[in-house]
Amino acid sequence: MQKSAKTYFTSTLLSWAEQQEQRDMPWKATKDPYKIWLSEIILQQTRVEQGRPYYLKFIAAFPTIKDLAEAPEEQVMKLWQGLGYYSRARNLHAAAKHVMEEHLGVFPKEHKDILALKGVGPYTAAAIASFAYELSYAVVDGNVYRVLARYFGIHSAIDSSKGQKEFRVLAQELMDENQASKYNQAIMDFGATQCKPGLPHCEICPLSSACVSYDTDLVKLLPIKEKKLKKKNRYFYYFVIRDAEGLYLAKREKKDIWQHLYDFPSIESAQLKEPSIVINEAKEKLRELELEYLGISDPYKQVLSHQNITAYYLEFESSKNIPDNWKSAEKATKTKLKKYALPRIVERYLLDKSLISKEGESS
Ligand code: ADE
Repeated sequence: MQKSAKTYFTSTLLSWAEQQEQRDMPWKATKDPYKIWLSEIILQQTRVEQGRPYYLKFIAAFPTIKDLAEAPEEQVMKLWQGLGYYSRARNLHAAAKHVMEEHLGVFPKEHKDILALKGVGPYTAAAIASFAYELSYAVVDGNVYRVLARYFGIHSAIDSSKGQKEFRVLAQELMDENQASKYNQAIMDFGATQCKPGLPHCEICPLSSACVSYDTDLVKLLPIKEKKLKKKNRYFYYFVIRDAEGLYLAKREKKDIWQHLYDFPSIESAQLKEPSIVINEAKEKLRELELEYLGISDPYKQVLSHQNITAYYLEFESSKNIPDNWKSAEKATKTKLKKYALPRIVERYLLDKSLISKEGESS
């Protein structure tokens, strides 16, 4: 590839960015590495519009990395509730503590130390290093793969290590080293708003005249992935056990989805089961408790990136009070229920049952 093709790409991209109306992104107005880091972790699997209110909530609750490091985990998880990919919140908290202990509370300035933080991969390290310190590390993520694959007509698979290396090298060559933060922000914004996955705005694209994919079906074809993701189906049968004082929640301790969030005691299956079979299994499991079975809910569904979750809620009532810590479950009174960090599928059920109210509404 000629040098001029690359130079043209970079200079056109940068002037495109200059002409754009700025999207409302509060983290753009700062050079504080803590705030940039926080925004980048939030935006890892989240769109700007969805992430913005979370960023503002976190900054209000924890204005400095010390505040975040010293916060109880429950508070961090609760603030994260609804964003998904909860390991991001746990890693964020662990990394804040690490910075307090190993870097005397000062956010690291070197790329290798930033990359060593929990939850920070090459993309996030490049974003932080460039936005906070103008270090010239090019970001490479799904947006960047798409823009480069289309513009340069690259057919290498973005989920193969060979393909990834090729994109990484090209991305770094394209970066304007004297304008690291501007360049990275420009390519991110270009991928998000112009060269979009489904419906790119080719007709108004300043790069279309030199874009290899333009006006061919290649735009729809690229970028290429080798492996097709096969999603796993999981069926959760939750036991919602209530007594006069409250209902029983279970903290998810295992290394699995929603780790450190709360749901209910449950049984899980890889297949859909007959309700009568599950009800019998549940009664057997709970036989030590004197429970009245009230009924089973409609299915609740949640689609995650690698899994399809279906949840049924089997409702039970006990006329006697069950101990606060029955097995590993934990009794939550109605007033305390809103303090727990819950997966969205559980929150939806509790909202439907009017056991909690939407944030901001009084219950
Ligand atoms: N996605 C990840 N980081 C971003 C940023 N700084 N601006 C816009 N979208 C992003």
